[in-house]
Amino acid sequence: GRVALLGVPMDLGQSRRGVDMGPSAVRYAGLQATLEDLGYAVEDLGNVGVPLPELTEAGDAGGWRLRAVGEVCREVSARVREVAGGGAFPVVLGGDHSISLGTVSGVVAASREAGERTGVIWVDAHADFNTPESSPSGNIHGMPLATLTGRGHGELVRIGGEEASLRAEDAVILGLRSVDREEQRLLTEAGVHAYTMKEIDAYGIARVVRQAIKRLSHLERVHLSFDLDSLDPEVAPGVGTPVRGGLTYREAHLLMELVNEAGIVTSLDVVEVNPILDSRNATAEVAVELVASLMGRRILALPE
Ligand code: ARG
Ligand code: MN
Ligand code: MN
Ligand code: MN
Repeated sequence: GRVALLGVPMDLGQSRRGVDMGPSAVRYAGLQATLEDLGYAVEDLGNVGVPLPELTEAGDAGGWRLRAVGEVCREVSARVREVAGGGAFPVVLGGDHSISLGTVSGVVAASREAGERTGVIWVDAHADFNTPESSPSGNIHGMPLATLTGRGHGELVRIGGEEASLRAEDAVILGLRSVDREEQRLLTEAGVHAYTMKEIDAYGIARVVRQAIKRLSHLERVHLSFDLDSLDPEVAPGVGTPVRGGLTYREAHLLMELVNEAGIVTSLDVVEVNPILDSRNATAEVAVELVASLMGRRILALPE
């Protein structure tokens, strides 16, 4: 198969600097060679241009960020639509989680052209289901899943066109453990199915992942949006919004391995890697290993 890599060095969706270096860190950790080793033909499309927050006019910082995130994500959406439409598997490297507004709307556009329906697996400590009204921080990276289901800033909701990109029932969250108060209500009302750390602790990751996969079985395509803060901060310290009690190294691998076995995922983004907060690129390295498991690496690789 063919894989296309696209970097989106965007850190405008939140206030801590450093996630703009995520694409470099993940490339440096050997993503392309790892995928080639698995037999993929990999094309690196480089990075999408992102404006620098240092160059923003003071005063209207909020409005400027919103417009900039919208512009970047429209560009990402167009690029990803082209990649997916051409039959390659898009792997998009963030950047903060607001880049998924571009990735998901792009893959959805391509799948609609093919008459197919797309869902998402959102692997994250957070639900990213805030709206501008509910958000305590105002950070756009806490809003993308809500926005993709049609709730939020009009200009961000419409990145993929008039229709929302996703139906709430076509999204599942895995690894959830930090939800803001108003966000809880929005999430429940919308009917997004969230598998929290409590379920993972109580039933085990394998059972939970199999249930999540089953819930998406009516869909032709599935996008996996992988926020590195889903992992425990001891495994992945290089993230801007760490939350204790996350996925262990093996839980995360098993998640990826089971999703790979199900053969359902058709696109991926890897977000929130922050090299400034990391310890010797450990977070980017674990990201590459987990992508390898998702893309078919086996512990015992038998000859064909
Ligand atoms: N719920 C918090 C907020 O809305 C944190 C969101 C963190 N999101 C992320 N993609 N890391 O500000
Ligand atoms: Mn997130
Ligand atoms: Mn998160
Ligand atoms: Mn545990």
